[in-house]
Amino acid sequence: MSVREEFDAWAAEGRDRGMEERHWHTAKHVLARMPVEAGDRVLDLGCGSGYAGRALRETADVRSYGLDGAPEMVRNAASYTDDPVVGFLVGDFEHLPFADDSLDHAVTMEAFYYANDPRAALDELRRVLRPGGTFYCAVNYFEESVHTADWEENVGVAMTRWGMAEYRDVFREAGFHVASQDTIPDREIEIPPDEEFPTDGFDTRTAMVERYRTHGTLLTVGVVP
Ligand SMILES: C[S@@+](CC[C@H](N)C(=O)[O-])C[C@H]1O[C@@H](n2cnc3c(N)ncnc32)[C@H](O)[C@@H]1O
Repeated sequence: MSVREEFDAWAAEGRDRGMEERHWHTAKHVLARMPVEAGDRVLDLGCGSGYAGRALRETADVRSYGLDGAPEMVRNAASYTDDPVVGFLVGDFEHLPFADDSLDHAVTMEAFYYANDPRAALDELRRVLRPGGTFYCAVNYFEESVHTADWEENVGVAMTRWGMAEYRDVFREAGFHVASQDTIPDREIEIPPDEEFPTDGFDTRTAMVERYRTHGTLLTVGVVP
């Protein structure tokens, strides 16, 4: 199945909102770290329900663009706001419809590893971000997060599984400085007591604690020199 087919189906079933709820545990910390200022233009890559653009508008006078490859996702996202400066568009990560140096910041939450060619996507981000612009890249699917290793098989679409060092290397190869890299734990997801395991997702409580609290979400921040 293609990424578009997969996420169009999710959107049609209303699963974009469930994703938003789960990802918000972490995304709110990512967005709070971004150095956005009034007047900035911010891209959300793989926007899903579009919550990042809506949230950024609550704290700063920015213009946001949510880009997603699944038209149904974009349709849903657009229907959740009537704010004229929170825009949404269908597109793919490797061909960003923006001029060189035209954006101030970009963010992506739980989407980057779906890129058909993540190196080409980074080249595109490097092209469209202005000098001093930042790219906040948050992923749960990364090599050190051992309990996510079977996702590609389960979701049924191709994914790129880099480790922390590889993210840093590839950012640098694309021309970014790596400003920071760390993992953000999800402290809000409810972890049941021992006796309730195994669950649908985890054999043991220890595994679920490792997945969410220990490994959490990898955030790599690139800055355009
Ligand atoms: C797991 S969802 C995450 C959505 C949202 N960022 C969130 O945190 O809930 C990944 C999204 O990225 C989009 N996506 C994945 N690969 C893409 C690509 N190569 N080009 C454009 N969109 C893509 C999918 O359509 C999907 O809506």
